[in-house]
Amino acid sequence: MNRCIRVAGIALVAGFFCAAGLAVAYAQDAPKGDAANGKRIYLADKCYTCHGRSGQGGAYNTPTPILAHTALPFEGFKGQIRNPINDMPAYSAAILSDQDIADLYAFVTSLPGPGSPKDFPLLNN
Ligand code: HEC
Repeated sequence: MNRCIRVAGIALVAGFFCAAGLAVAYAQDAPKGDAANGKRIYLADKCYTCHGRSGQGGAYNTPTPILAHTALPFEGFKGQIRNPINDMPAYSAAILSDQDIADLYAFVTSLPGPGSPKDFPLLNN
């Protein structure tokens, strides 16, 4: 019994390090992007019309996910842009280069994402 718990504990610790390793791998796999240029492309190529200027997502036509501070790894982000799973229009390499997508990724991961109402001074009066 005791031994079993110990083995399970080791597996858990190993799993944790494995997951941590993957997270590091994801961050390293993302090519270096220029967030300022990513913002320019985000506006020029109309991502904002569906995903919102702050990457807040929307529901104007179809439910559109939040992009601000995305948890998607770079490959998943790029995969959706090249081969969208549903309603989003595809952006081929002729329209967006891999570097453009890296810049977009740098931009959306730099956005703060949802905040708490306590973060807005006006709402605390
Ligand atoms: C016409 C509306 C529209 C436009 C324009 C658009 N998207 Fe999307 N996007 C969507 C919808 C709807 C989804 C949900 C999945 C689907 O329908 O393919 C989505 C999903 C995504 C996802 C997956 C997010 C997640 O967490 O699952 C990413 C990343 C993304 N879009 C990036 C972009 C970028 C970058 C641009 C601009 C180059 C862009 N989108 C332009 C509508 C749009």
